[in-house]
Amino acid sequence: MSFELQQNAWSASPRSISQDEALDEVKRLLGENLPTSSLFAAYKPLRDWFARPAEIANIHGIAHEARVMIWQEILARLLIKEGVSLDQEALRWAAATHDLQRLDDGSDFPHGKRAAAWVERNLKQRLPEATLKMVMYLDTWHVPADVHAPAMTPELAVFKDADSLDRVRIYDLDPQYLRWDYSKNLLQYLAQALFMESEARRQPGEVDLFEVVIEAAVALGLVRA
Ligand SMILES: [Fe+2]
Ligand SMILES: [Fe+2]
Repeated sequence: MSFELQQNAWSASPRSISQDEALDEVKRLLGENLPTSSLFAAYKPLRDWFARPAEIANIHGIAHEARVMIWQEILARLLIKEGVSLDQEALRWAAATHDLQRLDDGSDFPHGKRAAAWVERNLKQRLPEATLKMVMYLDTWHVPADVHAPAMTPELAVFKDADSLDRVRIYDLDPQYLRWDYSKNLLQYLAQALFMESEARRQPGEVDLFEVVIEAAVALGLVRA
């Protein structure tokens, strides 16, 4: 399909907006089509899927995967409403798997390729061929700069924006690099809120951090209970 990153029909005025205004706008645009919390459980990564299970609570751990899953879901639904065609199954599985095979929290450049190899080994029986291939593509190419990707497909642009929005957790979200107007003009104003709300709900000890993030999204009104 023809694909112009900056031409999705919706564009708010480029002025900055408050968190409350952004939330109201997402709710107005999606309404009944906001995701429900029960959707996400099927894509929750298991502890032993992580190359470093002991790091599951850290910056590239399960809370990050959960927030990326929420951002891709909301961005995808906004774009689908405008007629963009997206493989949502592939996007959800990429959110679940893209950072599983990190061996450290630096750049660890090959972690995308390792994630794709893991997906091929472990999700082959579960996913249709085309979806499997797309998850592998998203996992592989989420790491290099945009210009290095063989093609900036709509799914890759959605996925990279979702992953970028959670850079607030490392104080490194630069909105000028976001790829869709919805991300730049709307979702960037909610990224900090989802991160802060999920951190505030975090308890010491063994808690289900994936569930904590979904509950935070429900509390904010980004996800329906
Ligand atoms: Fe990554
Ligand atoms: Fe990530």
